[in-house]
Amino acid sequence: MFDEIEFDRIKRLPKYVFAQVGELKMAQRRAGHDVIDFSMGNPDGDTPEHIRKKLIESAQKTKVHGYSASKGIPKLLVAISDWYKRRYNVDLDPQTECVATMGSKEGYAHLAYAITNPGDVAVVPDPTYPIHSYAFILAGGNVVKFELIFDEDYNVDEDRFFEDLERVFRDSSPKPKYVVVNFPHNPTTATVTPEFYTRIVAMAKRERFYVISDIAYGDLTFDGYKTPSIMEVPGAKDVAVESFTLSKSYNMAGWRVGFFVGNPKLIGALQKIKSWLDYGMFTPIQVSATVALNGDQQCVQDITDKYDHRQEVLIDAFGKAGWKLKKNRATMFVWAKIPECVAHLGSLEFSKKLLVEADVAVAPGIGFGEYGDQYVRIALIENDKRIRQAAKNIKAFLAKYENKK
Ligand SMILES: Cc1ncc(COP(=O)(O)O)c(C=O)c1O
Repeated sequence: MFDEIEFDRIKRLPKYVFAQVGELKMAQRRAGHDVIDFSMGNPDGDTPEHIRKKLIESAQKTKVHGYSASKGIPKLLVAISDWYKRRYNVDLDPQTECVATMGSKEGYAHLAYAITNPGDVAVVPDPTYPIHSYAFILAGGNVVKFELIFDEDYNVDEDRFFEDLERVFRDSSPKPKYVVVNFPHNPTTATVTPEFYTRIVAMAKRERFYVISDIAYGDLTFDGYKTPSIMEVPGAKDVAVESFTLSKSYNMAGWRVGFFVGNPKLIGALQKIKSWLDYGMFTPIQVSATVALNGDQQCVQDITDKYDHRQEVLIDAFGKAGWKLKKNRATMFVWAKIPECVAHLGSLEFSKKLLVEADVAVAPGIGFGEYGDQYVRIALIENDKRIRQAAKNIKAFLAKYENKK
């Protein structure tokens, strides 16, 4: 009915690539297959007990069931500001430079909605976590991409990054207003040095753009690597905001708690749009998030250690199965180049075949952008035993294709 009525905004969104693998995964499971699922960055562990207990205790109170504060309850905003002070020695005004969001994904969608004029350009390195670009596209903006280059140890080639970014600024018309960066990076796991942020803040001031930095995986680092924050750069608040999420560090993905901090103009825009769109997270969730940020951080270390260990198990087991991978320093993922004998398939076909023929689900790199197509992303959300089982299945799968060569 009403074929003449078109929804232009939604038409700008392609079909979610991951949905195709997701549908196939469900079909395999319905057919009785035990699928080993590395496809989503959805932590498999429990939320730490002290956080769950706080939720129950708080939900029993009678004064917490009404509408909450859309930008975050005051105690949570102070906890966010204190978290930055402790971790990065950065001072943030809880009321004007911090905002709590319903997960950081919601924050990206609404921040872009609040700050994008029709035709505005945002720069997003490719591959990328999809909302970083689609938040701007959905809001009526345009996205310019360039390939994120990093070495075999997952260090971003920072000189190359700035050459590419300078080129984008020379070539784009209109000039970009926003640059999104995300390190440790999803999906590639690539990391940067603190100097990277010094350089991007200087460039932002010179070229007059805002930087939006995502440190969702900031806590999940190994072998002594410490995630730098753009907020550590003196004067960063003039040109930058940064987001963080409780989803990964505290196994709270389903709770939907994240936050943005930094430049008061951008934070104010996000606070304002949220005041029109929502009434805030359920207060007991905000109280529990406050406890998570202020409380003992051993749980974060335990979660990090688990991913570190699983990565080692996976690299060892997959290596023995013929899929050679190198250890990274951060995130809950492995960004895996597709083995040579099946590289011609591209990431979507390879992921589908791996699922149907080996009962192993991964995220095809193409879902993160055109430069991801030679890779798949493996989320470390299965236990050691199942990682080893996956390796066995993959060994048999690869043997079939090696023989076809
Ligand atoms: C880089 C990055 N940013 C943000 C998010 C969103 O997390 P949430 O909405 O759960 O806070 C994710 C989730 O996977 C992510 O990978």
